[in-house]
This record gives sequence, C-alpha cells and structure tokens, in this order.
Amino acid sequence: MDKSGHAEYYQVYVWDLPLRFFHWANAACVFVLGVTGLLIGSPIPWGGPAVDASHRYLFGSVRFIHFAVAYVFLFNFLGRLYWGFAGNDFARWKNFFPRTKAKRKEVLQVLCLDIFMICKLPVLSIGANALAGIIYSAMYLAILFQILTGFALYSVMSPGWFPHLFAGLIPLFGGLAPLRQWHHVFTWVFVAFTTMHIYLSWYHDYLEGRGTISSMVGGWKFIEKSSFPQAE
Ligand code: HEM
Ligand code: HEM
Repeated sequence: MDKSGHAEYYQVYVWDLPLRFFHWANAACVFVLGVTGLLIGSPIPWGGPAVDASHRYLFGSVRFIHFAVAYVFLFNFLGRLYWGFAGNDFARWKNFFPRTKAKRKEVLQVLCLDIFMICKLPVLSIGANALAGIIYSAMYLAILFQILTGFALYSVMSPGWFPHLFAGLIPLFGGLAPLRQWHHVFTWVFVAFTTMHIYLSWYHDYLEGRGTISSMVGGWKFIEKSSFPQAE
C-alpha cells in the first residue's frame, strides 16, 4: 500500500509480441477451420435449386478456404513450437508442466478456485497458472492431432507432395471414414476449450485484477507488490 492507501503494482511484460501474434493467428485459424469444417461435414443447400450446385462452386470455395487456412495453421503452430524454446520466460515449454511441488499445489488451488469456487487468492503464477499450463499443453496436442488427421485426409485429394507425407496415417485409423470421424470429433474439443477458455480468462481477470484479458493484447500484467514482497 502507498501512503494514500492504494495498492502498489509491478508492471510485468508477460506475453511478448511473437507469442501474442501466434495466439491470435491461431484463434483466427481455429475459428475459420471450425466453421468451414462443420460446413464440409454438414453442407447447407444455399441458393436453392435454380442453379446447378456444380456451377456455383460454393463448396469448392469452402473446402479451398479450409485447406489454405490449414497451411497457415500449420506454420503458425510450428512458429509457436519454436517460440517455446526461443521466447521469453513465460512463453517457454517448461512453464506448461507443473515440475515443482509449489506448482503441483497450485494445480489444486486453481481447481478449488475455478471449479469449487471456495478458495482464496492469490495464485502466484504470473504467466499461465499451473492448471492452465496443463490444459494449454493438452490443447497443443489437440492442434497437432488435428493437423495430422487433416493432412492425412487431404493426402487423398491433394496433388501436392506435402500432404502425401501423412498418407501412412490412414490405415492406422482404420481407413478414411474413421479418420474423418476423429477429425470431426476433435472439432468439438476446440469448441469446448474455446468456450471454457474465454470464460476462465474473464473470470481470472475479474478475480485477480491483474489485466489477464488485456495481457494478450498489450503483453502487460499488473501484479500487486504485496503478493511478491521478496521482489522488493
Ligand atoms: C482446428 C483445426 C481444424 C478443424 C476444427 C477442422 C474441422 C473439420 C471438420 C469438422 C471437417 C468435416 C468432417 C466431417 O464431418 O466429415 C473437416 C474436414 C476436413 N479437414 Fe479439417 N479441420 C481442422 C484442421 C485441418 C487441417 C490442418 C487440415 C489439413 C489439410 C484439414 C483438412 C481437412 C480435410 C481434407 C477434410 C475433408 C474434406 C472433404 O472431405 O471434402 N483440416 N475439418
Ligand atoms: C476470442 C477467443 C480467445 C480469447 C479472448 C483468448 C484469451 C486469452 C488470454 C487472455 C490469454 C492469457 C491468459 C493468461 O494470462 O493467463 C490466453 C492464453 C492462451 N490461449 Fe487464448 N484466447 C482465445 C482463443 C484461443 C484459442 C481458440 C486457443 C486455442 C485453440 C487459445 C489458446 C491459448 C493458449 C495456448 C494460451 C497460453 C499462451 C500460449 O501458449 O500461446 N486461445 N488466451
């Protein structure tokens, strides 16, 4: 507290520019791939029967967008993987696994806070909290899964050499139909994660008062000095 009774804060640059870029490019890709993917799975008969569907090429365009954005999604994912080794301390992969006893305790503490809503603050992590780190790691695995299954599906319809590298996955999934089904099911993992993620970002923004939401725009979080007296 300062003399007038106001809390004092550290300003910490948590999410660096490349990480923020990867985050929002990834979110935009997930949105476009989700919408175009669900349209591919359940096509809507737009425009009525006046013109023959093959003359409109509507679903050709929807599929083209899905495949073009799939490449952006892939390169963005590779960029984020690299940034987990080259980025600032908060972007590094070591943050995403609860390696210390304190971090494992924080997993329970955040569960208690988010699910049971009976615990008291503060959560000490400044970047992703320990539970969020585990969930983000699982999401990166889901992204990898969606890329692998997507390019394996694409291998049977693309003339390019790159998708053919994934063709060997088709028999592993028991053929094209189950592979496509897995790709479809994982779309709902993204829908569920994104819904929960937006809610929890707002919830922690409100609870912690550190600027969680705006941190993914400007990079900064604001940490109460009283939570980290050792840093004075
Ligand atoms: C978050 C990422 C993605 C989501 C949410 C997503 C979603 C979907 C969905 C829901 C379908 C329709 C499945 C069905 O019901 O039959 C689909 C089809 C497909 N997706 Fe994705 N997808 C993603 C990423 C990718 C990637 C990275 C590729 C790589 C090329 C890809 C390639 C394909 C292909 C080839 C099809 C089948 C198209 C067809 O048979 O006409 N997807 N996707
Ligand atoms: C409108 C949609 C979204 C909003 C408002 C949003 C917001 C945020 C915020 C505020 C953070 C920082 C959390 C913190 O400081 O503890 C964050 C981090 C993160 N978000 Fe999102 N997010 C969105 C969509 C997505 C999507 C679609 C994904 C993945 C499928 C995603 C994956 C992540 C990951 C992995 C992180 C941790 C940082 C990193 O490793 O890149 N987000 N998000």
